[in-house]
Amino acid sequence: MSDPSFMTLQQHIIQRQRCAEEATGEFSFLLSGITIASKILADQVRRVGLLDILGTTGEVNVQGEQVQKLDDIANDMLMQCIGYRRCVHAMASEEVADPVELETGDAGRYIVLFDPLDGSSNIDVNIPVGTIFSILKKPEPNGKECSVEENVLQKGCEQVGAGYVLYGSATVLVYTTGDGVHQFVLDPSIGAFILVKEQLTIPEKKAIYSCNEANAHSFDEGVQNYLNWVKTSEAGPYSARYVGSFVADFHRTLLKGGVFLYPATAKAPEGKLRLMYEANPMAFLVEQAGGKASTGDTRILDVEPTKLHQRVPLVIGSKKEVEIVEDFMARRRSAVSA
Ligand code: AHG
Ligand code: MN
Ligand code: MN
Repeated sequence: MSDPSFMTLQQHIIQRQRCAEEATGEFSFLLSGITIASKILADQVRRVGLLDILGTTGEVNVQGEQVQKLDDIANDMLMQCIGYRRCVHAMASEEVADPVELETGDAGRYIVLFDPLDGSSNIDVNIPVGTIFSILKKPEPNGKECSVEENVLQKGCEQVGAGYVLYGSATVLVYTTGDGVHQFVLDPSIGAFILVKEQLTIPEKKAIYSCNEANAHSFDEGVQNYLNWVKTSEAGPYSARYVGSFVADFHRTLLKGGVFLYPATAKAPEGKLRLMYEANPMAFLVEQAGGKASTGDTRILDVEPTKLHQRVPLVIGSKKEVEIVEDFMARRRSAVSA
């Protein structure tokens, strides 16, 4: 390490904890569970092909998707590394049907939800994959005995923390606790995430759109109108970028600007991305960075969850770019209702 004045993630969290309750170090202890798991996963991802971790386990998960071996490894790692932390009331994972209740006493103040490995279909072809996490507080007891599922199903605006790890050419961690968005890079020589950017903001406008247009025939007609418009000389010129790993597409959108959209399709009538541990954490981050995230007409962070693995249509990115998509959708709705 050349620069002795570097700031690690743990130092950053402790230094920025604004209120006494967070200064107990519990939050940074909780986050260290995620970062330990992500460092182990980063090492495994780097050696895919050399270890017997390629391909599927042969099982189908609660999402109805083929489970990649690394999905399982990532899930087990996160469950183990977070599970030891007494401040965690419950965990919920994309790979597990129900929330896992841990600490039922007062010590269990946090709920951690995660997509252990996002973009996992890309592992075998060395395209970046990621881990996404969302942190909620266990609701204060209100006299009524709440089930762990009820405790977990909170709107995205209740999140106290969110972030992702992107296993790319570098291993990058981006997080927020509601006080701006901060980016770190893992320095393998010391095994620590080092701060590279504080108070990261998303450009308000950028002519990049990110969408799997193979599904366009079954998109909302307003979205189809947008996709026709975005290719015209009047609009752009826009660039199209689509990795197929949400974390990679989101990270590019956050740093360069633009809009990512995964609308409802015939195959995924509610959208493909999951509200609780994909859309909500990224929506918290993008709003903290000055961007916007909606279903096309409803702010993602205001969507009332009803099921742990519910899916949601998603338009996310630079404020102005998201609003252009929303306008096309609104105009189509009013044309239909006229
Ligand atoms: P996951 O690997 O966690 O199931 O997520 C995959 C998601 C997301 O990463 C990506 O944006 C989207 O699937 C890509 O879907 P399509 O292949 O339908 O474009
Ligand atoms: Mn995912
Ligand atoms: Mn996943």
